[in-house]
Amino acid sequence: MNIILLGPPGAGKGTQADRLVSERGMVQLSTGDMLRAAVKAGTPVGLKAKAVMDAGELVSDEIVSALIGDKLTEMGPDKGAIFDGYPRTAAQAESLDAILEAHGRRLDHVVELAVDEDALVERITGRFTCAVCGAGYHDKFKLPKVEGTCDVCGSHDFKRRPDDNEETVRTRMAEYRAKTAPILPIYEARGLVSRVDGMAPIGEVGAAIDAILDG
Ligand code: AP5
Repeated sequence: MNIILLGPPGAGKGTQADRLVSERGMVQLSTGDMLRAAVKAGTPVGLKAKAVMDAGELVSDEIVSALIGDKLTEMGPDKGAIFDGYPRTAAQAESLDAILEAHGRRLDHVVELAVDEDALVERITGRFTCAVCGAGYHDKFKLPKVEGTCDVCGSHDFKRRPDDNEETVRTRMAEYRAKTAPILPIYEARGLVSRVDGMAPIGEVGAAIDAILDG
């Protein structure tokens, strides 16, 4: 099964993708994570992407579509793919069609996480992750079970993203409204879109997604 999780910054795409990976053995293809890894490694792609990401703007379509194509080749044909944060423009949606066809895959669902943008600022500015294993947490909505200790790997080292400040978040949301939301009708016309209330608690959002994938 191949699905797209679509929604503005902080909608919960990464949170739900993590769960689908651990519960269903699917593979998460997050262009944001791939770009952050490239920045950290100081690759040519990372060097180009850093300033764009720090400003909350979109990295070029060619770069992100190449990352997705490479990852699909690397993961092989057997596991389902969760596209998280991709596609984000009409050009990327077109590229994804071609990439999926080249890999003998088809899209099964586009899950739109519908959210209230003002609440997202609180979600994003409260977000932090384990610096060792990447497990995600939130100051208010998802604290580690033991304060200061990662539930997954036991590390005491946490980090926050440089683009998770209010000003950059507002730019990221404006980019979503201008360039990403307009691709929904492409998938609606194909009957692929299901809308989920992304403001519900994390477990309820997960249950709603499961119902779509199993329905
Ligand atoms: P990217 O990494 O994709 O960031 P984003 O789309 O802004 O999404 P986020 O990761 O911020 O949010 P999310 O929806 O995954 O939310 P999460 O689950 O963490 O992109 C970063 C940058 O990279 C872009 O700005 C751009 O520059 C570049 N880029 C990436 N892809 C690109 C592309 N395709 N084309 C061009 N450029 C690209 O949840 C947020 C917080 O809320 C967490 O703390 C979580 O615990 C909490 N939470 C989640 N769900 C709930 C809930 N239901 N209730 C309460 N709290 C919740």
